[in-house]
Amino acid sequence: MHTGGSGFLGSHLCESLLASGTNVICLDNFFTGSRSNIEPLLDNKHFELIRHDVFPIYLEVDPIYNLACPASPIHYQHDPVQTTKTSVHGAINMLGLAKRVKARIFQASTSEVYGDPSIHPQTEDYWANVNPIGARSCYDEGKRCAETLFFDYWRQHKLRIKVARIFNTYGPRMHPNDGRVVSNFIVQSLLGKDATSVIELIGHVRRSCIGRCRRTIRSSGGRIFRARRNYYRGGRARRSRTASFKPSPTSRSC
Ligand SMILES: NC(=O)c1ccc[n+]([C@@H]2O[C@H](COP(=O)([O-])OP(=O)(O)OC[C@H]3O[C@@H](n4cnc5c(N)ncnc54)[C@H](O)[C@@H]3O)[C@@H](O)[C@H]2O)c1
Repeated sequence: MHTGGSGFLGSHLCESLLASGTNVICLDNFFTGSRSNIEPLLDNKHFELIRHDVFPIYLEVDPIYNLACPASPIHYQHDPVQTTKTSVHGAINMLGLAKRVKARIFQASTSEVYGDPSIHPQTEDYWANVNPIGARSCYDEGKRCAETLFFDYWRQHKLRIKVARIFNTYGPRMHPNDGRVVSNFIVQSLLGKDATSVIELIGHVRRSCIGRCRRTIRSSGGRIFRARRNYYRGGRARRSRTASFKPSPTSRSC
């Protein structure tokens, strides 16, 4: 079973599981995902869609991929209480199911568990620098709590778990208003607004990459703009307040 299967990453995972001959049950409440992402799969006899929250559900499944959770700051800050509930209740419910049916379970975690990290690049033994009460905490702390639950189920109940800390991913079916740097860069460039993208790009990359970016931008006829320090965090917060997001009216909250 696959929670969050109609989202950006989830729909690709559904496709690849089906291609490998696996039967897939996709559970999604369409909060940020959409039916159109999985439309081509609906006729596949090995694919089943359940429009459902990550509430307790009783199914004989193995393995379970738990991806249900809005991932973009615009989406997860739209309803922060629901974001935490989805991460924490979702993990509890799916781990409970995995324990009952003795299934293997995978958790889609995130690089955001490192918060505002003080070391680069982050290693898995780095414990992070996370603000528990900020606007982004619903996601960061929700995912951290989910990781805690996964590892406690492993220690206490010997559950077979996998936790992947995914870093920013981009590709087909990503929402154009996702709000993260790579999609912003591509969308703004496609709309001819490359100046903003360049500022953002320079604001985001590590110092060691800036020289290479400058050379690439200049050689392709672009202009260089200087970004403020901390543009990244300030920019993300500013965009999150102004960007609009309307979840599917039929999505339910847990
Ligand atoms: N995309 C990335 O760069 C990235 C980075 C790190 C971690 N992740 C994690 O990967 C997973 C998928 O990310 P994505 O980019 O595909 O996001 P997405 O928003 O496109 O997909 C999330 C899916 O979960 C569903 N969902 C949300 N709340 C739900 C609930 N309460 N019950 C059932 N379904 C619910 C949404 O409708 C959507 O289909 C998330 O858990 C996210 O935290 C993604």
